[in-house]
Order: sequence, then structure tokens, then C-alpha cells
Amino acid sequence: REDIERYKARIKTLLKEKNACLVAHYYTDPLIQELAEETGGCVADSLEMARFGSERPETTLVVAGVRFMGETAKILSPEKRILMPTLEATCSLDIGCPIDDFSAFCDAHPDYEVVVYANTSAAVKARADWVVTSSIALQVVEHLADEGKKIIWAPDKHLGAYVQKQTGIDMLMWDGACIVHEEFKAKGIQDLKRVYPDAAVLVHPESPDSVVEIADAVGSTSQLIKAARDLPNRELIVATDRGIFYKMQQAAPDKMFIEAPTGGSGATCRSCAHCPWMAMNGLDNIVQALEEGRDEVFVDEALRVRARKPLQRMLDFSA
Ligand code: 13P
Ligand code: SF4
Repeated sequence: REDIERYKARIKTLLKEKNACLVAHYYTDPLIQELAEETGGCVADSLEMARFGSERPETTLVVAGVRFMGETAKILSPEKRILMPTLEATCSLDIGCPIDDFSAFCDAHPDYEVVVYANTSAAVKARADWVVTSSIALQVVEHLADEGKKIIWAPDKHLGAYVQKQTGIDMLMWDGACIVHEEFKAKGIQDLKRVYPDAAVLVHPESPDSVVEIADAVGSTSQLIKAARDLPNRELIVATDRGIFYKMQQAAPDKMFIEAPTGGSGATCRSCAHCPWMAMNGLDNIVQALEEGRDEVFVDEALRVRARKPLQRMLDFSA
């Protein structure tokens, strides 16, 4: 705990010295989320992280999350220095959607509107007409379908299937998945429901359809935090990264949160959903990023200009 306090004090000093602001995702270590709050930064979902970063007066943003979040910040705020605790923190959705293959897929369907999830590289965003996050995917797809557009959806097939089912709109889909949410199993959650029969089940839509089907609330991280507060149930089974419990406990301090099991079922299941890339963010590498200017995000300018368009569309649409 002494080390932690030392790191926190050092980061607070460095943030002031470097005119920097800390922006953290809900899946990062609670210590980072706490520090972002204490220093006037923000803890948010991917949509709000993008908006918040671009509206800040500071000249440097430290983005604690995964690489696409740092790239998004740079695309929207090219004049700012964007630092990350580590540039190694990627995402299985980003890895599973390489630009050359994706571009060829889009070229093969020229009459389709291309909608990509924010969890993608700057190059994939630059190839898209729209970027969406899970908070706004349903509304954007409905809007495009109202305009009579045919839609390519990439890269998350589970989120895509959820959007398709909710809206009744058919989309041409890329075959990608989140390695964290894909591990949730309906059987394990149903077994847990026998132990906690009054519990509500909260599910992020990057989870498989069988898990989404048994949910009482489905939504982005910020939507799930609201559901945790608003649902009448005292017990909540949560199928998303466990970093979210920090904010859920703040939002509903008198409720009990139970991690949805990943893998097997019943007594043999594991219950420790945590993104390995989000876990790479720590107080120690935030200090290094600020002290050494290490792990700065750069995006090629021509690519940035193209990637900005679909991102800005999303921000304007959701304003
Ligand atoms: P949201 O915070 O937009 O729900 O996204 C979750 C996610 O996968 C971040 O990695
Ligand atoms: Fe990517 Fe899944 Fe990790 Fe989010 S939780 S960053 S979608 S691998």
C-alpha cells in the first residue's frame, strides 16, 4: 500500500507538471480508475473516453485502456500528445481484422455502407463510413437501414448478431470476437442462478447469443453500470470484465455483485473475466509514460484525416 501511495502521489505531480489528464476505461485496474477520478480526469466507456479526451484543455492525454482508445484520441486530437501506459495493449477484435483482408472484403461489396466497431485499427476506421461503439450501435444501424443502406458490419460477430436480432436488419458480417466475452457460458450462468435465484443477469453484447438470451439487461459498460443502479434486484450476476465492479459498487453500494463464470459450469467454472490487455495498464507504467514520454501514440496524418470522418460522424450522431 505504501508503494501504491507513492506511485499515486508521483502521478498526481507529473500530471500537473506535464499539463496532462488521465482518461481510463472501466476495465482498467480500480487504482487507475480511482486516480483518474481524484485528478479530474475521467473513467468512461469507449464512446465517452473519445468525447472527453477531445474536449479537454490539457495538452497531453494519458489513455489507460487499449491501443485503439489511444489511437482514437490521437485521431480526434492531433494537436495533443497522447501517451499510453503501454502500446502493447491491443484487443482480439483489432488483431482479428487486418486492414488488407478487410479492405478486400469491402471492395468485394462496393454498394454496402461500412460500419466498424471502435475496437479496430486507425487503418480499418479509415476504410469505414461509420465507427460505432456498443452504446450507439443499435441506433446507427437503425438509422442506416431507414435510409435504405445495405450494411457491412465488422469485426465483432457477437455484437453484430445482437444488433441484427434487435433491429431485424440483415448485415454482412466479419468473423471476429472478443476473447474475454466469448468465454461466458449460458450453462455456467444458469447454474449460478440456482444459487442466487433472485439475481438479475447483466451482459455485455460482445458475449455469445446464448448468454445474451438469458440476460435481464444487455448493454455497453456505461449502460450496464446504469442497469446495476436501476434494476430492483439486490444481487447481480455480471458478464463482462471484472474491472467494471469498481464503478458498479459506487453506483449501487448496497447491492451484491457476482462475477459470471467463464469456461465450464457449476463448481468447476472459473470466474475471473479480465482482459489480458487491459491488465497491462498499471500505476508503474503510467509513471514511466509521463516521466519518459514513452509509448506515445502516432497516427499517419493522411490516415488520420480519413479515420476522423467516420469517428466524427459517430460523435455528431450521439451528441
Ligand atoms: P464499451 O466500454 O464501449 O462498452 O466497450 C467495451 C470494450 O470492449 C472495451 O474494450
Ligand atoms: Fe478487446 Fe475484449 Fe479486451 Fe475489450 S475486453 S479490449 S473487446 S479483448
